[in-house]
Amino acid sequence: MQLADISAPDHNWKGARVLVRADLNVPLDRGRITDDARIAASVATIRELRNRGAAVAVCSHLGRPGGVHSDDESLAPCATRLAQLLSTRVELLDDCIGAQVQARVEGLAPGEIIMLENLRFHAGEERNDPVFARALAAGFTHYVNDAFGAAHRAHASTEGVAHLLPACAGLLLAREVEVIGGLLDRPAHPFVAIVGGSKVADKLPLIQSLLERCDRVLIGGAMCFTFLAASGDPVGTSLHEGPEAQAMARQLLESAVRLNCMLELPSDILVANRFANDAELQVVPSDAIPNGWMGVDIGPKTSATYREVIADAGTVFWNGPMGAFETPAFAKGTRAIADAMAAAPGITVAGGGDSGAAVAQFGLVSQFSHVSTGGGAALEMMEGRVLPGVAALPHRG
Ligand code: 3PG
Repeated sequence: MQLADISAPDHNWKGARVLVRADLNVPLDRGRITDDARIAASVATIRELRNRGAAVAVCSHLGRPGGVHSDDESLAPCATRLAQLLSTRVELLDDCIGAQVQARVEGLAPGEIIMLENLRFHAGEERNDPVFARALAAGFTHYVNDAFGAAHRAHASTEGVAHLLPACAGLLLAREVEVIGGLLDRPAHPFVAIVGGSKVADKLPLIQSLLERCDRVLIGGAMCFTFLAASGDPVGTSLHEGPEAQAMARQLLESAVRLNCMLELPSDILVANRFANDAELQVVPSDAIPNGWMGVDIGPKTSATYREVIADAGTVFWNGPMGAFETPAFAKGTRAIADAMAAAPGITVAGGGDSGAAVAQFGLVSQFSHVSTGGGAALEMMEGRVLPGVAALPHRG
């Protein structure tokens, strides 16, 4: 089943006043946007609606202001950036609900674009309060959800309002669901997943789901030290989790055998004597990390093995960096995976937070089949969970 989206040719958008839920939750540093990927990704839907004669009011959350107004979490920088990307004026209203907002919405001219202020300045948003949802819908003729990154939240703007107005998906949300849904339903084999990041405990349901679907799951990042510790190997001062997570790691290793999926750990590790770009470094076998040294990246032998597996795969899904890639001296393993995926002939998808940031940092986004804008949403979908923001939208066929 496919989501009904705005591109349906028989849909008449002329004169419509459309509430577009985007995910403009971008990183800010003292009011400056440090990564505008989510804003750029929301442009296609807004432009398409405008070109087809609709007026658009974009709404989003930013940060977690907890139901109260906070100047630091105003969407003002996002409105400015969106206006630049669309080369048009985007007026930011000072609230997202209320009589004045409704009057402004009802007076929108075809092609006009405005932005509503941060939804999370109202507690009703996260509570999925029906009164707040009705206030948000007031004055609009249609609702379009393009906020894949927030689709795992059952909030008023992602779930409640979808039941109050004629609703459909935006182009970004539809594409995300199609690509990630395709990985779940009909992946080309061999299907390989690469999972990194720091905690096994956070990724347990993801890895379990991947073991059920993939031919091989390759582990990297700090979580490999929890796996190594669980097998009784020394991990030095490497970041690793305690007995509970180690029991989860053992459970995953057993599941892999039962499901006939190869769960692979690094064979060598780059270790550092301290966490600094100019630290002393050496490469050691993964079962022999010396006392007082910390693992900071996968080693070159592991990178070479993972590269070969990626080159032979029909589908590759990547979540989580292989090492502490923000420090240049520890970025080689993550870079090797990104380069291998960029060059791979199969379907290549990066999803869930830091791996997407790594692909962007290396300038390789256009060489991937897809880089998801979703963090938690991409992970929950890969876990096989139903996303409330997607379930609330009409499906085709
Ligand atoms: C995200 O950044 O993952 C989404 O925008 C959701 O944000 P939240 O975790 O604050 O709900």
